[in-house]
Amino acid sequence: QADLKSRLLEIQKKAAKYYYYQLRQPKGRVGYEYLKNRALTDETIQKFGLGYSGQQTKELYQYLKHEGYSDALLKESGLFSMDERSGVYDKFWNRVMFPIMDANHRVIGFGGRVMGDAKPKYLNSPETKIFDKSRNLYGLNFARSSRKGNLIICEGYMDVIALHQAGFSQAVASLGTALTTQQAILMKRYADEVLVTYDSDEAGTKAALRAIPILKEAGLTMRVINMKPYKDPDEFIKNMGREAFQQRIDEAQSSFLFEVEVLERQYNLKDPAQKTAFFDETSKKLLGFSDEIERNNYIEAIAAKYGTGYEALRRKVNQLGLSLG
Ligand code: UTP
Ligand code: MN
Ligand code: MN
Ligand code: MN
Ligand code: MN
Repeated sequence: QADLKSRLLEIQKKAAKYYYYQLRQPKGRVGYEYLKNRALTDETIQKFGLGYSGQQTKELYQYLKHEGYSDALLKESGLFSMDERSGVYDKFWNRVMFPIMDANHRVIGFGGRVMGDAKPKYLNSPETKIFDKSRNLYGLNFARSSRKGNLIICEGYMDVIALHQAGFSQAVASLGTALTTQQAILMKRYADEVLVTYDSDEAGTKAALRAIPILKEAGLTMRVINMKPYKDPDEFIKNMGREAFQQRIDEAQSSFLFEVEVLERQYNLKDPAQKTAFFDETSKKLLGFSDEIERNNYIEAIAAKYGTGYEALRRKVNQLGLSLG
């Protein structure tokens, strides 16, 4: 088993080198141009080991066979599709390649992006004996030594890379899955605060709402960074630059205020009945703070932000607390 794992790591490493080399070949030019068009520098491309999977459909397979690996082992690598009828194919071709590394810089899998609008946009390695998506974070191998005192969690490969390139070397991504408990525990090993910067679309908002209790459970405090009017950190930085992103970090709001802001979208606060209902819901959430001073601070913030009296809201929350025992 230990030997199998080390052989699989060896294969991922060879594949990463192969893709990296392809990006520098004339036929890999298309991949290189794509990355340059997305504003990545040569230094960044090198740091993240970005590559290009060839245009032929079994080049990597042939190369690794030549290196002496058995079909059984290659199948376990997750890099090939192998079935009796259609034969063997490289899983990734004509994509720019993002090696996924564990916290110790070992390549454990890949994401590959199409260079146009085809679907799927990203193809990812399947889970293997060495690649467990739920226990890894993209970019953690660099972020773990960033010494920023916090981690930034975002959605995608390009977000992490753009953030690192702009100097935010504490950025990681959850590999396109919903954030898991194991990932939160992993983060807690390196930081006490997490800045959540998921995409500003509906899916990203939902993902952020789901991530908040998981991060809290792991003992992390968190704030949410607003990317509007841009879609994600990559686009934000490309348009606004690093200082503007730093400003968004400085202005990031506590996860509680973010949750209330999302809740608010369900109500029309110009309607007195709906506004009352909104404060009913918010009061229930405020009861979640057991520390009285902390609770009062949030009551104050909410009262001011949404336009009601502090004392009235405080009484409402406390009465609700009494009625619920
Ligand atoms: P997004 O759809 O937000 O893409 O997916 P993106 O990262 O902004 O990609 P670009 O900027 O268009 O290149 C966020 C993340 O979800 C995963 C990837 O990890 C991606 O980075 N994902 C997305 C997939 O695994 N497969 C997909 O088809 C799409
Ligand atoms: Mn998204
Ligand atoms: Mn995105
Ligand atoms: Mn993007
Ligand atoms: Mn509203």
